[in-house]
Amino acid sequence: MKALAVRPGTPHSLHPREIPPPTLDSIPNGRGVLVKVLQVGLDATDMEINEAQYGNAPAGDDYLVIGHEVFGRVEQVGAHVKHVRPGDYVACTVRRPGKSIYDHIGRSDITSEETYFERGINLLHGFMTEYFVDDAEFVVKYPEKLKHLGVLAEPASVCAKAIQQAYSAQHRLQVWEPQRAWVMGAGQIGLLTTMMLKLRGLDVCTMARTPAEGNLKADIVEQFGARYLSTRETSLADIAARHGRPDLIVEATGNSHVAFQCMNVLNLNGALVLTSVTGGTRVTEIESDRINLEWVLGNKLLLGSVNGNFRHFQEGIAALALGEAMYPGVLERILTHPIQGFENYARLMPLLADANVLKVYVNVAE
Ligand SMILES: NC(=O)c1ccc[n+]([C@@H]2O[C@H](COP(=O)([O-])OP(=O)(O)OC[C@H]3O[C@@H](n4cnc5c(N)ncnc54)[C@H](OP(=O)(O)O)[C@@H]3O)[C@@H](O)[C@H]2O)c1
Repeated sequence: MKALAVRPGTPHSLHPREIPPPTLDSIPNGRGVLVKVLQVGLDATDMEINEAQYGNAPAGDDYLVIGHEVFGRVEQVGAHVKHVRPGDYVACTVRRPGKSIYDHIGRSDITSEETYFERGINLLHGFMTEYFVDDAEFVVKYPEKLKHLGVLAEPASVCAKAIQQAYSAQHRLQVWEPQRAWVMGAGQIGLLTTMMLKLRGLDVCTMARTPAEGNLKADIVEQFGARYLSTRETSLADIAARHGRPDLIVEATGNSHVAFQCMNVLNLNGALVLTSVTGGTRVTEIESDRINLEWVLGNKLLLGSVNGNFRHFQEGIAALALGEAMYPGVLERILTHPIQGFENYARLMPLLADANVLKVYVNVAE
């Protein structure tokens, strides 16, 4: 069957290739689910993998099939699979367990091992194929009525986890009722986070570089009932002075400098969640004494969040459903750049490199 793959270590090596089709019996104990791939989303990680900054091939292979954001339809299930059946729409988690205690309790998203296994990213082939098979444990049922948003299930899981982790960690305060949230970045992660925080009833301010005028991302933010601001036009300090310091910040710009700037404005008892995966070598100077003092005296929390497990997928999908009900038609505005089939693969990386492009995904099958 057809697939798109890279040769890890070789920059710009994205290529189509034929690979053997998966079989249900490759998963033991009757727990296999064979899925026909309908859509696969791409993000900056795929671009970094193609630039050979990131990603490793599975043991014994010299190529890595890319694709970690998948939406598909079940074709066949093993005898012991109960929660999905042929014809169901599904998404699939990305990380697979290693050997730490967290991996054993179904929390590979917080593995304590340095080496992690992620489909389409590290040491496991991804979903940019016609079919894939996986253990039922990782296959998440998705509502048919929402299938036009299916390719957002994986990014939604990332946002759901980041928010859930903040609320969970803030139990340390016994009472935490955040009023104001900032979302840094208005890419797919920033926009979905904005929606989820609005659904929780917060006053949300979402920031990115580009001014609001004629900007689709700003439009979407405002359709979710949040405020969009350009960091090119206003400083974070001015925004805090004008609108109040945020109790919660979710950082998703891909720029570590912004992450550290956020430490200057967080409210007392607040939580700053970092999600940007920054593979570069940027060095940022900060007023460490002042920030340290304010964070100690303000009982502030800094946490990193990566990936999402089965439950985060379910939470993300539930948020997509509620978001579609509350803001009809807004979420699909994120889906800006569909590419038809693997044969148009050469268009993928230039689109991902274009800052004006919001969401790139491949329509693999109907
Ligand atoms: N933790 C995880 O599990 C996980 C999963 C997926 C992705 N990520 C990471 O999350 C981050 C966001 O992903 P994405 O797909 O949403 O990215 P994206 O589409 O590239 O969006 C980035 C957004 O950040 C804004 N931005 C960039 N630099 C900025 C700056 N200096 N100041 C203010 N805004 C800035 C951009 O502004 P403009 O709109 O004005 O260009 C854009 O709105 C990435 O770093 C990605 O690697 C993490």
